[in-house]
Amino acid sequence: MIVCKSREEIAKLRMSGRIVHEVLEETRERVHPGVTTLELDRFVEKRLAELGAVPASKGYHGYPRTLCTSVNEEIVHGIPSNRRLREGDIIGLDLGIILDGFYGDAAITVAVGEISPLAAKLLRVTEEALMRGIQAARAGNRIGDISAAVESHVEANGFSVVREFVGHGIGRQYHEEPQVPNFGVAGRGPVLKEGMVFTIEPMVNAGESGSRVLDDQWTAVTLDGAYSAHFEHTIAVTAEEAEILTALGPAVEAAVER
Ligand code: MF3
Ligand code: CO
Repeated sequence: MIVCKSREEIAKLRMSGRIVHEVLEETRERVHPGVTTLELDRFVEKRLAELGAVPASKGYHGYPRTLCTSVNEEIVHGIPSNRRLREGDIIGLDLGIILDGFYGDAAITVAVGEISPLAAKLLRVTEEALMRGIQAARAGNRIGDISAAVESHVEANGFSVVREFVGHGIGRQYHEEPQVPNFGVAGRGPVLKEGMVFTIEPMVNAGESGSRVLDDQWTAVTLDGAYSAHFEHTIAVTAEEAEILTALGPAVEAAVER
């Protein structure tokens, strides 16, 4: 069952989303050659504590850290470690939090210094696919319209979508219904209604579409070693365009003074 959220619940989810956005943007500024992924994780932990937000991924099915850091051929769920970023890397930063009982979830992929033209195109096309998916998330449309919008943009640019991981409803739980695949057929799937809140999160491989999980039981990587990118927003379906909840709001520190 897909639960529609009330205005009050969406207001709470908006607060969570703003914190996710703000902390991801602050983390983006700390991505440089030489920084370790664990240093990025520590920074995020510190900021969430300052803002009164709780990490959602830490302890989730035993996941050990706050941030997911997925470098180059890593698709999602890379675990922060002593790995040092190098010029030319790309890094996905995926953050879930809980504020006042409500979850927020978003991801960006960031260039480390100068990156190749192909990697730059991969980042651009993946973010564009997310925005096209969001444009398709209108009341009366179906989940398949979002999926098809994402997939067609990715494939028109010569890349492939990952099929093993999907977007998801979100609210008082990290993962709720519906599932939001990055592939599918327009006109199929659940009808979108005002008040539905879910993530859209294209994971796009520069090469073939497959994935496998490393021995650490978390890190998903491409089969062919090609780079992969991930962008994610939490959105609310409204009577008009979807509202991006993981977006800029009034200064977060002011907003969390309740
Ligand atoms: N943030 C991820 C999502 O998009 C979930 C990560 S779960 C973790 O749903 F345990 F790997 F962190
Ligand atoms: Co998500």
